[in-house]
Amino acid sequence: MLRLDRWLVTLGTGSRSEVQKLIRKGGVKVNGAIVTDPGKQVDERTAQLTVQGAAVDGRLVRHVMLHKPAGLLTAARDKKQPTVMDLLPDVYGAIGCMPVGRLDKDTTGLLLLTTDGEMNHRLLAPGRHVDKTYRATVDGALGQEHIAAFAAGMHIPADGKEPAFDALPAELTLEAPDVAVLTIREGKFHQVKRMFRAVGREVVQLHRLSFGALTLPDDLPEGSWRELTEDEIAALYRDAHLEVVRKPD
Ligand code: URA
Repeated sequence: MLRLDRWLVTLGTGSRSEVQKLIRKGGVKVNGAIVTDPGKQVDERTAQLTVQGAAVDGRLVRHVMLHKPAGLLTAARDKKQPTVMDLLPDVYGAIGCMPVGRLDKDTTGLLLLTTDGEMNHRLLAPGRHVDKTYRATVDGALGQEHIAAFAAGMHIPADGKEPAFDALPAELTLEAPDVAVLTIREGKFHQVKRMFRAVGREVVQLHRLSFGALTLPDDLPEGSWRELTEDEIAALYRDAHLEVVRKPD
């Protein structure tokens, strides 16, 4: 439950004083009835909201999968460069939908965004080991020795500001001599590129195919997004070891 004016402000409808004015003059309906008290308590999970005659999707909890194109930063906002949030309607930013982890600017593929900060945090927690699968095209041939090196867990040397670390064993399979599918269970900064660099290969193209229980569907073109299905949400909460908060019946 929350105040009606707060709900509208959170949805990005206007400033507090703007929405209070709108409510007082009868511009807002809840469950089909005009409400003129800005402080009225409403259940935002179930109430139907109408603003100036138009139905408004008032959900404050949302989970989105996005097929990230190259060229966008994975960030909630940036002063200079376009971000993945530019692909979503403004309401997603207004309600605090944020990327889970990050893909590099030149990386494409599956990116999860959520308003659930606890889930976001848990999916990235170092001990959680959520699988992430990437397709990497590299600048030379790969072979059995590379598969073995990834499987053994490799030492990644320090790189600029990034400290050295020992990568967990990872699964590498080859689709072509210079194209590999790699599954890792952690998500250090630039991890995939650094792992290939450690075996003498530069990544020239990187695409994420899956994140935990989520797989990028074939029918989601680059630059598009959709909300997760109930089943996908449930699977993700299992990945995060959290309970799904279901809508009351
Ligand atoms: N590892 C990288 O090096 N880059 C990404 O974008 C994701 C994983």
